[in-house]
Parts: sequence; C-alpha cells; structure tokens
Amino acid sequence: MTAQPPRPLMSSASPGPGFARLLHAPDSPLTEVIAVAHKIAVFDIPVLLTGESGTGKELLARAIHDASPRAGGAFVVENCGALPDPLLESELFGCRKGAFTGAHEDRIGLFEQANGGTIFLDEIGETSPAFQVKLLRVLQEGEIRPLGASVTRKVNVRVLTATNRDLEEEVRDRRFRRDLYYRLAGFPIHLPALRHRPGDLPLLAEAFARHASSALNKPVAGLTPEALARLARHDWPGNVRELYNEIQRMVALAESPWLDPSLFSPTLALAGDPDPTPVVGTTGTLRTRVERFEAEIIDEALERHNGNISRVARDLGLSRVGLRGKMLRYGLAGGREEEGEGWGGQAPPDPSDLQKR
Ligand SMILES: Nc1ncnc2c1ncn2[C@@H]1O[C@H](COP(=O)(O)OP(=O)(O)OP(=O)(O)O)[C@@H](O)[C@H]1O
Ligand SMILES: [Mg+2]
Repeated sequence: MTAQPPRPLMSSASPGPGFARLLHAPDSPLTEVIAVAHKIAVFDIPVLLTGESGTGKELLARAIHDASPRAGGAFVVENCGALPDPLLESELFGCRKGAFTGAHEDRIGLFEQANGGTIFLDEIGETSPAFQVKLLRVLQEGEIRPLGASVTRKVNVRVLTATNRDLEEEVRDRRFRRDLYYRLAGFPIHLPALRHRPGDLPLLAEAFARHASSALNKPVAGLTPEALARLARHDWPGNVRELYNEIQRMVALAESPWLDPSLFSPTLALAGDPDPTPVVGTTGTLRTRVERFEAEIIDEALERHNGNISRVARDLGLSRVGLRGKMLRYGLAGGREEEGEGWGGQAPPDPSDLQKR
C-alpha cells in the first residue's frame, strides 16, 4: 500500500477542522469556495460538487458533513459509477434475500446506514435513467424500499453528490433528468482545477513532500526552485491526486535531501520543457495570436470565478455585454449570471438569502 495524501494539515485560512484539510494559498480561488461551503454546511441543503478528478470533491463533502449539525451521524460514501443498476440499488436502498441473482441475504442499504447523517453519492452523472427515477422518488418521498421488499422505510439523510461531468450539459442533452438535477443541485459548488490555481501548487508540493518524507521515513529538505518551476508548467489532468503521487514518487526515489527534476516521472519530464509561447503559438497573424491569448485569459477567469459573468467582467474590466460578446466569438460556454439565470428559468433559493432570513 502506498501512503495516502495527508489529512490533518492546517491551511492558512481555516473555517473549521474539516475544511482545514483543504490546503490552499491565501489568495487561492479555493478560499472563497471554502468560505461558501462553510456557510451552507449548517443548512440541510443538498450540495452538488463539480470539478475534475482529484480536485478534492470528496474531501470537501466530508468537511461539509463535519461542519453540519449531522456531524455526529454517519458519513457514507458510494461511487455510483462503479456498479450495474441492481447492485447499486441494493447497496443504496438495501435488498431482501433472493431479490435478484446474487442477493443471498437481507441487506441494509447505505441510505439506512446514513440515517441521521449524510450520504455522499460520487459520480452521480454516470447513473442510468432508470436509476435516476428511483433516486428521485427516494428524495421526494424521504423513504426507501429495499429491492424485493413490499414495505418502505423513512430515512432522514442529507444528500451530497459529486460529478466530474458538466451536469447542466447532460441535462440539456437529456442524459440526466432535469427534475433530479434540481433536487440535487440545491447548491452547486465548483472546485477549480489545479492548473487554474497556480498559487496553491508550491504550497501543496511542499506539504506533500513533508508528508511523504515522514510517511516513507526518508528525510527530505524540499523541492529545488527548478523542480517547482517545472511542476508549475504541467497542466495536472489528475489534479491534487496526481501531484501527490508525483511528489511521493520523487521522495521514494530521492538520494539526496533536495527533490530535483531528475526524479520526475516520464510524463512530468516531457511536460516540463520550457515553452515561452504555449498559448499564443508561433503561427498566425498578430490579430489571431492576440485573440488566442484573449480567449485563454477569459477562459481562465471563467473557470476561476465558477462561470460567474459579473465577477469575470469586473475582474477583467469589461462590461457584461462586452464579455458575453467575446465569449460568443471565442465559443466559450459555461458562464452564468448571478441572479438565478442559467437555472432554466426556475429561480432557486439563494443560500445567502436563506442566511439573512
Ligand atoms: N486542497 C487539498 N489539500 C490537500 N489535499 C487535497 C486537496 N485536494 C485534494 N486533496 C487530496 O487529493 C486526493 C483527491 O481528492 P478527492 O478524492 O477529494 O478528489 P475528488 O475530486 O473526489 O476526485 P475524483 O473525482 O477522482 O473522485 C485526496 O487524497 C485528497 O485528500
Ligand atoms: Mg471522489
């Protein structure tokens, strides 16, 4: 077994012990994400966590549970993408012996195990339409019926979900039920990709180096400036999980206290080559190259502000109309207005309003 990424490290801004596990720089976009998550943690609102693989969705879900009045109850996790329907349903809702081939005994479902606590349904975007109908019914009725059983049982569970798909797009393309989406996305929270929070990278790398050093019992002084600079040039498709694995590998292979680029995995070694014109490129007219650059800046700002048009416009010194025009021109999707637009016309409760009441 390899050592796991660290759990109880402190971050610069820590609204609660659970949230403190999410390490980040003070000016990181995560600061605001955590502040918002901390605010809504205490309310029984369903939260949908989105973000690429390895961005910390499960860590944040746990932190929300730990900061909620349900903290004394169970926090139960199910990966909905890993199982065929009958197994997933029997896992979640329970089953009676003989309900399907392979159901050799009565089984209590995870919803019942999470009673009084929180259930975290990971990879919810992978579920089948048939399963989505069943889950919707459970959420509407607040009760489950084990497979093969004739009676239902009441459950009191807060549901947190996560996906690395664009669930709104899945809804538009009719792959995910709109009614279930609104049930689950009571409060959507997006975790930005690691490449969009460059300030976090050195802090995480150093913390992981210290952690791996003690877990593997190998003394390490830290990363060389060149190693840090080259880590910053990688785009981290596996996000924080990939970074941890990379650092752990470096610590394991290190023969001196300083971790340098000679310890990089082949992927990192390739990606780390200096390229002064990654976005602008070396082809095209001045105008197309400037436009490519502009599109990249807007794309990055949209990701950083979780698609919030007003904030991106403010940040970049543009009007909202001007920003929308540029997004249209560059084919950048995913923006949303602050006041409920982007919700298909249904005005959801604004959690900050909920708090004011
Ligand atoms: N900000 C962070 N600080 C410290 N550790 C982190 C941070 N973000 C993620 N991690 C660690 O990285 C690993 C991946 O995080 P997590 O499992 O929460 O990601 P995820 O978004 O649920 O990924 P997936 O989509 O693949 O399920 C975990 O071991 C977690 O502890
Ligand atoms: Mg996860």
